[in-house]
Amino acid sequence: MDEIRQTSRQFQKDLSNLQTLDQLEQLKIKYLGRNGVINAHLMRLKDLPDQDKKKTGEAINRLKAELETEIVKKTHQLAKSDEEKESVDVTLPGKAYPKGSLHPITLAIEEISRIFAKIGFVRVSYPEIEWEYYSFESLNMPAGHAARDDFETFFIDTPADPKLGRMLLTPHTSSGQNREMKRLKQPPIRMINLAKCYRPNLDATHTPMFHQFEGLCVDEGINITHLKGTLDYFAKEFFGPKREIRLRPFHFQFTEPSFEVDISCGVCLGTGKVRGKKCKVCKSGWLELGGAGMVHPYVLKQGGIDPEKYTGFAFGWGVERTFMMKEGLKLDDIRILYNGDIRFLEQF
Ligand code: DAH
Repeated sequence: MDEIRQTSRQFQKDLSNLQTLDQLEQLKIKYLGRNGVINAHLMRLKDLPDQDKKKTGEAINRLKAELETEIVKKTHQLAKSDEEKESVDVTLPGKAYPKGSLHPITLAIEEISRIFAKIGFVRVSYPEIEWEYYSFESLNMPAGHAARDDFETFFIDTPADPKLGRMLLTPHTSSGQNREMKRLKQPPIRMINLAKCYRPNLDATHTPMFHQFEGLCVDEGINITHLKGTLDYFAKEFFGPKREIRLRPFHFQFTEPSFEVDISCGVCLGTGKVRGKKCKVCKSGWLELGGAGMVHPYVLKQGGIDPEKYTGFAFGWGVERTFMMKEGLKLDDIRILYNGDIRFLEQF
């Protein structure tokens, strides 16, 4: 019995001296292992006189249980202090995770949407796979009309619908005009339809997939000054306060009158000259942005809107083209936006 008490004291001493989980494991082997102290006591039981065996055996088992409990307790203590040690090391440098960025055209789309949202234009999106009716007929371009040639189009090889015509990949966002008029049924309408468009061209100024944003505003008393004011507001917000826009007469089937919209060049500020020499960026002082005009009465009628009561303006510009005209960018090939070169993309 003395030896058992001695073991218990020694164990307490050993236990209070150790500091790591490894040392604790060693202690466990020393006392509870197959060749450990507890087993040695049990082995020697058989040498005791019969009347002492039971009492001593019980004492050894009690001690064993006590050691096991103490070891479990100590394991928890040490594991916890290990964790604490880890969490208070404020001197370690943080982990730097690689950070991606949004595609420049995604950023431009967000910026354009934000600018128009500020003056009440609601962003909508309509199908990229569209019926001929929405892309052409509803916009005053009947089947066989020469104006359709300007919108070289991918057609889809499916049966035509008797009313809506063939299916196609929409070549411009103007297809959203009729859809929006029919959705709202009633002016006021102020939409920005910003979506992918498709035409089979690939060169320095064209990609087969590109984006356009289409503005449509219809209400009582809308006239050209509203169109000009809206476009001027956009140009100043997107390109900077010094930039001006101008309208040049043009022809589109779905607007009357129609215009091409130019923006003053950010390099020569509309003068066409830099230090007495012709500006290399624009050559004339102005850069062409896109089309615009007053919505043709036929288009309003197709949308179920009375052209005697309401008037409207519309404009449709390419996102990529508009983005590339930002001051200081000087991108001379649109394809750089889509060839996936990370060295270019990560600059935005
Ligand atoms: N849809 C025309 C195009 O892709 C652009 C355009 C011109 C849109 C005049 C308009 C507009 O809304 O009024 O070339």
